[in-house]
Amino acid sequence: MAAPQPINVEDLDIHYGDFLAVQGVDVQIRPRSVTALIGPSGCGKSTFLRTLNRMHEVIPGAYATGRVEINGEDIYDPKVDPVNVRRRVGMVFQKANPFPTMSIRDNVLAGVKLNNRRISRAAADELMERALRGANLWNEVKDRLDKPGMGLSGGQQQRLCIARTIAVEPEVVLMDEPCSALDPISTLAIEDLIHELKQEYTIVIVTHNMQQASRVSDRTGFFNIAGTGKPGHLIEIDDTDTIFTNPSNTQTEDYISGRFG
Ligand SMILES: Nc1ncnc2c1ncn2[C@@H]1O[C@H](COP(=O)(O)OP(=O)(O)OP(=O)(O)O)[C@@H](O)[C@H]1O
Ligand SMILES: [Mg+2]
Repeated sequence: MAAPQPINVEDLDIHYGDFLAVQGVDVQIRPRSVTALIGPSGCGKSTFLRTLNRMHEVIPGAYATGRVEINGEDIYDPKVDPVNVRRRVGMVFQKANPFPTMSIRDNVLAGVKLNNRRISRAAADELMERALRGANLWNEVKDRLDKPGMGLSGGQQQRLCIARTIAVEPEVVLMDEPCSALDPISTLAIEDLIHELKQEYTIVIVTHNMQQASRVSDRTGFFNIAGTGKPGHLIEIDDTDTIFTNPSNTQTEDYISGRFG
């Protein structure tokens, strides 16, 4: 397989109808590494994240202009099927969202089945085990695979959702505050997992927890807004150590020191 390429975002403007929510994002996101996005509430972090797998446009009136290139392909090219983009670029949400009526097994395989890949029971079992091991959940659930996914703890449910995401073998995994509903132990478990996943996947994670950003990410991007109703901008992105110790932009510095000091 060819070496993974960066995600190239060029001149991206993101709208909700008439409202310009995020303006002029130009960024390269490095492959097989973790990029954290930080910034105040409402600055457009989640909005930006959802444009990376064409989830933004499912909201009525929402659209984006500009270019997002993943592994050399412009995902907004009219020839590209957004369903295929969402398979290549998986997403994990703030609140774990296992399918409530499904077993643990069926939850892991849900995306695989949606993608219409016809596979044998044996192949499905193997894939399920690999995804659960990859999500660091296998040992905790291997004896209860036919029990409901909803019967797991919050941290286990979040790892189940990560297993479901990686089961379809995406290229990129987007995570929007994946630990914000979790206790510190489960949070550390997810952070360890993110660290392992970056060997294989390009990961973009939104977090309000700056310690988390500094623990898990290689690069950190800071988004900000000038005021309510104004669009959010990517102010700067750099190596995580640099952002937290020696940012170039005073807005970044104010934000970082405001939270830490
Ligand atoms: N479905 C929507 N329809 C209209 N406007 C929206 C919608 N979702 C978000 N917005 C607006 O877009 C802007 C950016 O919101 P977004 O949720 O991306 O911010 P955020 O940085 O993720 O904030 P938070 O840290 O609170 O999650 C906000 O002004 C928000 O009100
Ligand atoms: Mg958000």
